[in-house]
Amino acid sequence: MTQPRTLEGKVAIVTGASRGIGEAIAFDLAARGAKVTLTYSSDRSREPAAALISRIQSEAHSSAIDVQCDLKDPTAPTQIVRATVEAFGPHIDILVNNAAIISSKFAQDITIEHFDEIFHTNVRAPLLLLQAVLPHLRRPEGRIINISSVGGRQGYPGTGAYAATKAALEGFTRNWAAELGGEGTTVNAVNPGPVKSEMLDQVDPRIVQPQFEATAVQQRAGRPEEIAEIVGFLAEPRSSWVSAQCISASGGYAQY
Ligand SMILES: NC(=O)c1ccc[n+]([C@@H]2O[C@H](COP(=O)([O-])OP(=O)(O)OC[C@H]3O[C@@H](n4cnc5c(N)ncnc54)[C@H](OP(=O)(O)O)[C@@H]3O)[C@@H](O)[C@H]2O)c1
Repeated sequence: MTQPRTLEGKVAIVTGASRGIGEAIAFDLAARGAKVTLTYSSDRSREPAAALISRIQSEAHSSAIDVQCDLKDPTAPTQIVRATVEAFGPHIDILVNNAAIISSKFAQDITIEHFDEIFHTNVRAPLLLLQAVLPHLRRPEGRIINISSVGGRQGYPGTGAYAATKAALEGFTRNWAAELGGEGTTVNAVNPGPVKSEMLDQVDPRIVQPQFEATAVQQRAGRPEEIAEIVGFLAEPRSSWVSAQCISASGGYAQY
């Protein structure tokens, strides 16, 4: 889809953009004109990230850089912001906290190590990244967008730790909106239902299948682009009156 160039001159950071939903978000923001920093942690993501940068240059006619760093490392957010400022200048307009991990573990199998790993990646990293971005956030139209999940509101066997991280991210979303809203910055979350991606493949099908069956309106998995479209709207100046919202994009799944 050809997007209007509503984000021309703006700078965005998208974490976890080497594949899946983050890749679609990074491309969509670039197609709207934003310069984008995309992040990932693994060596196997280097090639897809380089391919995405080329596609952003040739098809979206914008610029992008990549930063390889593990978001569990508390110094990673500073690295990401430093690289962004060096590449694109002192102002950052849009932060999309998208990177996350999931696991299929029942309550009795959640170790302290796993608890720390999933909370550090899915909850602590978004907070540290917000803290690193804030001194550079262009006011009054700053945009913070967290990718949460319908799983943060609904219980499924074996995804309790993940669900807890996503519920925490929703809590952060509403509180950051209250803290930053006075100056015009908006903070929102998008809560996808099941979306075709590597993450979905990692979840036990006995958990995913009931989700499809419970989907009252559209019995299919979503596409990453369907999440990116909503993030794109939330990033634009025209969404200025939308804040503190956790918006489900789930094909009508369970009315959340
Ligand atoms: N897919 C779904 O059905 C679904 C449903 C609801 C919500 N969501 C949410 O949507 C977001 C994206 O999900 P997805 O399905 O696109 O996931 P995905 O395909 O697994 O992609 C995850 C991305 O995050 C990066 N990442 C993972 N751990 C990282 C770390 N420690 N440090 C830095 N980067 C890291 C990955 O790159 P590396 O592997 O190289 O680190 C990759 O780029 C997540 O927040 C997820 O919770 C997804």
